[in-house]
Amino acid sequence: MALRAVAEAFGTPVYVYDLDGVSAQVGRLRRAFPEAEPFYAVKANPCGAVLRRLVALDLGAEVITEGELARALRAGFSPERILLGGPRQDAGLVAAAQAARVGWVSIDSLSQAECWTRQAGSSRFLVRLNPALDPRTHEHLATGAATSKFGVPFAETAQVAEMLGDRLAGFHVHIGSQITEMDSYDEVFRQLGRLLERFPHVQTLDLGGGFAVPDFPLEAFAEKVRAFVGGRRLLLEPGRFLVAESGTLLTRILHVKPGSVKHVICDAGMADLLRPALYGARHPIRALDKDGPPEIVDIDGPLCENADRLGQGVALPKVGPGDLLAVAETGAYGLSMSSRYASSLRPAEVVLENGAARLVTERESVEDLWRLERD
Ligand SMILES: Cc1ncc(COP(=O)(O)O)c(C=O)c1O
Repeated sequence: MALRAVAEAFGTPVYVYDLDGVSAQVGRLRRAFPEAEPFYAVKANPCGAVLRRLVALDLGAEVITEGELARALRAGFSPERILLGGPRQDAGLVAAAQAARVGWVSIDSLSQAECWTRQAGSSRFLVRLNPALDPRTHEHLATGAATSKFGVPFAETAQVAEMLGDRLAGFHVHIGSQITEMDSYDEVFRQLGRLLERFPHVQTLDLGGGFAVPDFPLEAFAEKVRAFVGGRRLLLEPGRFLVAESGTLLTRILHVKPGSVKHVICDAGMADLLRPALYGARHPIRALDKDGPPEIVDIDGPLCENADRLGQGVALPKVGPGDLLAVAETGAYGLSMSSRYASSLRPAEVVLENGAARLVTERESVEDLWRLERD
């Protein structure tokens, strides 16, 4: 089904996910890394239909909250193939993960290790190393930087690993998201190499995710990883790489305001797609079924914030109210980062499968806004 037909059938704003595109990305990952076990980072896109496709493709899931854990279980990921990570891991989340019998846990701090060592259970543990380097990505995405809250500094990693005793299975590093260059991994491998000398029985390495869309040199990276990892067990946690390019946000133009900057006001903005406001992210945007000489415009949302925009300085043919725009590469961190700011209603989600479109999440209604409120 064409994007215009999807907008007309289901309204706007609407997220559209091409599930066959997701399968194609999984295929590319598997070809590059036939030996790796991928755990999809659910935070990138937790839509049930997307998760079920990934279950069918035999992936595991990386989760960081009780909500993501519940979604992963509901979608059919086997608990053994669920990896719990992230800075939360308080008593409640630990209890939920234990009750679910998750296969893997990545420990993010000494305090978390203490929390887990008080519990029995069969999960295998990784210690997340913070390699304290500059991963050359947006500062909000640089989780492997010394100043970031993530992971355990190299100097303390051995102590945390020792606390885990024979439940220690390996080490984990996720240096950030939207990583475009591989150089940072030289330092990552140097530090991991030293840890492996100290813990020679350790057989698992989890190198996280973070592969930039659309530019990450995945195949070259796989070769570099293979040379370091050798015969050890390799886990990966890609999110964006698997789903970003298969997603499109469709939005309708409400008004066009001429002036020194021409503002195209749309029915989607920062409440629906936060990345431009949060990271200055630039998503490719095109007008559906429009031709003509390009003009430079700002593409704004409908709310009262200057940051409420989808794109700045974007070249578009002349457009007017009622025209449709397609915001590309929005399958990751799109709806998953959306909010109800200004009582905005979350968009619907539609999947494309074998050329047909199917509504998988309804658009929120105003009643949803106060559904949980009590007088
Ligand atoms: C620990 C961890 N693993 C994997 C990911 C997925 O990153 P990406 O979607 O960039 O591949 C994240 C993202 O924040 C993360 O924090």
